[in-house]
Amino acid sequence: MTQSCEIRRGVPLAPLTTWKIGGTAAEMAIPRDADELCEVVSHHDKVYVLGGGSNVLINDGMIEGMFVSTERLLHCEVRTSDSDIYVSCGVGMRLSKLVSMAAENGWSGVEQLFGIPGTIGGALYGNAGTRMGAIADAVDSVELTDASGDRKLLSRYEMRWEYRRSFFCDGDVIVGAVFKLRRADKASVALAMKSAGEARAAQPTGVKTAGCVFKNPAGDSAGRLLDTAGCKGVGVGGASVSDRHANFFINDGTSTAADMAELIARCARRVYERHGVRLELEVRTVGFDEPIISSR
Ligand code: EPU
Repeated sequence: MTQSCEIRRGVPLAPLTTWKIGGTAAEMAIPRDADELCEVVSHHDKVYVLGGGSNVLINDGMIEGMFVSTERLLHCEVRTSDSDIYVSCGVGMRLSKLVSMAAENGWSGVEQLFGIPGTIGGALYGNAGTRMGAIADAVDSVELTDASGDRKLLSRYEMRWEYRRSFFCDGDVIVGAVFKLRRADKASVALAMKSAGEARAAQPTGVKTAGCVFKNPAGDSAGRLLDTAGCKGVGVGGASVSDRHANFFINDGTSTAADMAELIARCARRVYERHGVRLELEVRTVGFDEPIISSR
């Protein structure tokens, strides 16, 4: 391979996730720009892009394949017109940076994303959001590369987003995105962000979690289903279900990926037995040979 991108070997992954769980990456690329990112993607069959590590369960042990860190892809450029603001972001930029830029300048369009951890790339990958809306609502265009390194730019009219799911094909990697915001009143932007913050009041803070573990089924709440199935306080090894919000699973500092995966499977089973609902994972799993919950 004739690439110039920095590659590290034997990288511990747990510190790079909010759950603080995961084994070791056999290899990790740290591209400096979009060209290097595309080069890495085109040279490897199995690529796992790691953003803020806030929505991922990485298995224990040595994980083969090429991890890609987006920590250097922090590009951010603002263009303005009379009423609109276009913010072009690298995938490694924190989502909270975009949200705070909008708050400071009175730009409307990303209030619904206030308080969500992680990076722009991770948020786009899972169409992150809250009950007020998702990141897709603010996207003007997204640049992707396919597995062969060919780049394509998609406008908002060419994208089909779903709840907590992006439209990207398997193997596509997000290279960057442009967000379209509107000039607004600073106070009204602040007020909307305050109410997004208040919606998170029942969620646990100051503990090792990955946000909501399961997606909400249509018209219902995974947290409510888990709670009423008696999952609060259930534990496996160092992993347990939060007693504040049943869709948050906590690592007490000693949980392995195997503990967390077993806890997730047990709770999904309980919900199915109690409510007949098959919950779907919101967190992405990496390095597991089999799905950690049954779909049948
Ligand atoms: N509920 C319970 N028990 C629980 C948790 C919730 O009965 O243990 C009930 C609540 O009382 C409420 C309903 O379930 O009536 C919904 O709960 P909540 O308002 O906490 O919202 P949620 O549906 O659990 C969603 C997003 C969160 C986002 C909040 C606030 C999903 C899977 N979750 O949670 O996003 O922060 O709304 O907007 O879409 C995430 O995606 O990682 C995430 C945390």
